[in-house]
Amino acid sequence: MSTEQQSEAPAEGDEGPVASGNDTLTVTDNRTGRSYELPIEDDTIKALDLRQIKVHEEDFGMMAFDPAFTNTASCRSAITYIDGEAGILEHRGIPIEQLCEHSTFLEVSYLLVFGELPTRPQLEAWVHDVTIHTFVHEDIKKFLSGFRYDAHPMGMLLASTGALSTFYPDANKILDPIERYLATIRLIAKMPTLAAFSYRHNMGQPYVYPDNDLSYPENFLSMMFKMTETKYEPDPRLAKAIDVLFILHADHEQNCSTSAVRGVGSSDVDPYSAVAAGIAALYGRLHGGANEAVLQMLRRIESVDNIPSFLDAVKKREEKLMGFGHRVYKNYDPRARIIKSHADEVFEATEYNPLVELATELEKQALDDDFFTSRKLYPNVDFYSGIIYEALKIPPGMFTVIFAIARTAGWIAQWLEMTDDPDKKISRPRQIYTGAREANYIPLGERTGEDRISGPATRPS
Ligand code: CMC
Repeated sequence: MSTEQQSEAPAEGDEGPVASGNDTLTVTDNRTGRSYELPIEDDTIKALDLRQIKVHEEDFGMMAFDPAFTNTASCRSAITYIDGEAGILEHRGIPIEQLCEHSTFLEVSYLLVFGELPTRPQLEAWVHDVTIHTFVHEDIKKFLSGFRYDAHPMGMLLASTGALSTFYPDANKILDPIERYLATIRLIAKMPTLAAFSYRHNMGQPYVYPDNDLSYPENFLSMMFKMTETKYEPDPRLAKAIDVLFILHADHEQNCSTSAVRGVGSSDVDPYSAVAAGIAALYGRLHGGANEAVLQMLRRIESVDNIPSFLDAVKKREEKLMGFGHRVYKNYDPRARIIKSHADEVFEATEYNPLVELATELEKQALDDDFFTSRKLYPNVDFYSGIIYEALKIPPGMFTVIFAIARTAGWIAQWLEMTDDPDKKISRPRQIYTGAREANYIPLGERTGEDRISGPATRPS
């Protein structure tokens, strides 16, 4: 047993947790016949309370096995509430539907970060502070120009966000209120700039500096699409759609990327590095990368006639229906419903796109099919967001980047909450060790290859 393991086990003579009333769970270990009473708080038991359950005194004690944390609360959080069965999403208690209808992304960011809606002067000060931090250091441009012309913009965003920590080294004073505030507004302010610069790099077009006369979503569109015009004037319907998409993606409690931000941030690294970890997690096709994967899937399906054979392939596990299913929503992703209602406005303001029809028909046929309904697989936020971006002439590589701009507000709010949490400790999951023990080192010349311990890597032949 390692010293580390010993240090966390209940001490000798420790009678274990004391429970009161009926808020306890009685566990009987049938191996020993012993019973244990574990306190229940907030409908949970403390995994560490299981450690007292032992067969022998020398045992390490029982652990909970929960790969992918499907039933483990890793923190207490007051930021976002989700009821997956009922299809409810609330930020600081306010339903997402109300926020999308009445608020703006920057106001929602304030809500996430500070815990309540701002008064008018507070909102004005917040918008001002974010707006004056939209520019990035000129060296960031040099840094970005080092990427290949076809580098994925998520890779560029990931690297440039990590690089911000080198421009703001004081951000590692993670408990200093001024540094915390600066990092918060810098991250929210600079993310659209880094995102748009990555796009312009791919396009071989000059970087467009932020226009601080414009609103947050308008400025993003300007940095993406401005060419020779003196002033870029975005279509207000499109700016509104982008703002709603930003709100919809702003936070989603302890998902893969937020857990990455918290996990990496728990080492007390600076927030830029922690957020870069979140961007890396979001990049994957099962998370933020799904919106790009939806577009690729629709292009492969090509026409409405091919939908039945595609759905057959999904049922045979040869394909995955991207943009469907969710770990938490087992009813309907409320964000998908809101997006759908805004999608029509975008499609009105943009050219006809046959993929819209294809997506609508694909959704209809999947929802008529018992394979999907019996597994509670419904469209998620990414099913329609990709088609909206496509209509806006934004290339698929940028879809997840736009998700990252919005999620930055959630990541930083979660990081602030975590670093303030008295329960915070460095993240360090346990494992069930399945490998060899006490094997002997065999000198190189004596190895036959037969006694090789097989590992997960395969060398291509
Ligand atoms: N297409 C086909 N079958 C699916 C799909 C899908 N998209 N999603 C789940 N299933 C099946 C899965 O094969 C399993 O079937 P069975 O019980 O017969 O083995 C069953 O549904 C339950 O799935 P699961 O894998 O246990 O579900 P999960 O909670 O582990 O996975 C998910 C959630 C989102 C990773 C998954 O639904 C998926 O891969 N969806 C496609 C990718 C996607 O759209 N991701 C975006 C998520 S929303 C944006 C975000 O928050 O990042």
